[in-house]
Amino acid sequence: MYPFWDVIVEPTLRRLRPRVIVEVGSEAANSTVRLAQFCRAQGALLHSIDPAPKFDVASFSREYEGYFQFHQAKSLEALPCIPTYDAVLIDGDHNWYTVFHELKLLEDRALKQSPAFPLVFLHDVGWPYARRDLYYDPTSIPAEFRQPYARKGMHPDQSRLLDAGGMNPNLCNALEEGTPRNGVLTAVEDFLAQTSIPLDFLLIPGLNGLGILIPRAVLEQNATLAEYLAQWRLPKDVAAYLERLEDFRIRNILRLLDTRSALVREQARLGARIRELENVVQQMTGKLHAAQAELDRLKASS
Ligand SMILES: C[S@@+](CC[C@H](N)C(=O)[O-])C[C@H]1O[C@@H](n2cnc3c(N)ncnc32)[C@H](O)[C@@H]1O
Repeated sequence: MYPFWDVIVEPTLRRLRPRVIVEVGSEAANSTVRLAQFCRAQGALLHSIDPAPKFDVASFSREYEGYFQFHQAKSLEALPCIPTYDAVLIDGDHNWYTVFHELKLLEDRALKQSPAFPLVFLHDVGWPYARRDLYYDPTSIPAEFRQPYARKGMHPDQSRLLDAGGMNPNLCNALEEGTPRNGVLTAVEDFLAQTSIPLDFLLIPGLNGLGILIPRAVLEQNATLAEYLAQWRLPKDVAAYLERLEDFRIRNILRLLDTRSALVREQARLGARIRELENVVQQMTGKLHAAQAELDRLKASS
C-alpha cells in the first residue's frame, strides 16, 4: 500500500489525527516504517499484524519503542486483541472470507462498545484481486468459503487461470474470477450491503486499486478531512481514464513478464548449446593430442 502513502494515505491520516492505527499485512515494512514515523511524530500508536513478517521486528520495535506494537498472528486472531483504533489499513490476506470478517470484527466492536467504526484503507480492490481470491494459507480458510485454487497466473482477458505465465503464478489464486464470495472488492460490497453503520466508500483506481471506507460521522465532525476526501470522489470519466491507465500498466507488466520468461528459456537453451560445444571441443582436443603423440612417436622411430 506504500505507493499511496504520500498522495492519499498520509494526507488523510494527518487530517484524521488518529491516536491508534492498525496495519494488517506488513510484509517488508515498506508501509510500516512510514506509519511508525508518522505515529512517532504525532504521538500516536501503531499496531501491525502479520503472521510472516519479512523484516527484523525486534530491532524495528526497539527503534519505535512506545509507538509500535507487533502482532505475529493472522488478522482475525489479532484484531479482537487490540482495544481501540481510529484507522485501519487492510493489506493482508486478499480473499473474501478474510476481508469480510476483518470488516465484521470492526463492525461488531463499533456496535457493541467503543471504538466507533474506524476509517479503513483497503488495498487490492482493483484487478487482479477485486473479484478473485488469493490465499496466503489456504488451509486457514473454512472449506465452505474457500474457492478452488491453484498456483497459476492470471490475465485480465480471462477468468480461468493460465497454464503458464501471467500475473502472480507462484501464489494460490482462485481458479475462477467473478463468482459470489470471491475477491476483495466483493467482500467490501457484501459488507456494505448488510451493515447498519453509515459508511461512504471511495474507490481510487490504479496501482491495483485503493478503497477507503469512511464513517459518515467522522466526515460530519471533521470538515478539513471531509473537504480533503471530497477531491477523491472522482468524476466518472476521470475514474474511467485512471482505469484505462491501470489496464495499460498491467498489460505492460504482463508483457515484461513474458519477455523475461522468454529470455530465461533462451538463456537455458544457449547454456545447453554452449555445454554441447564445450564437449565437442574437449573431444577434438583429446584427438589432437593423441594425433600429436602418434606423430611424435613416428618421428622418433624414423
Ligand atoms: C501484500 S503484502 C503487504 C504489503 C504491505 N502492506 C506494504 O504496503 O508493503 C501482504 C502481507 O500480508 C500478510 N498476511 C497474509 N495473511 C494475513 C493475515 N491473515 N493477517 C495479516 N497479515 C496477513 C503476508 O504475510 C504478507 O506479508
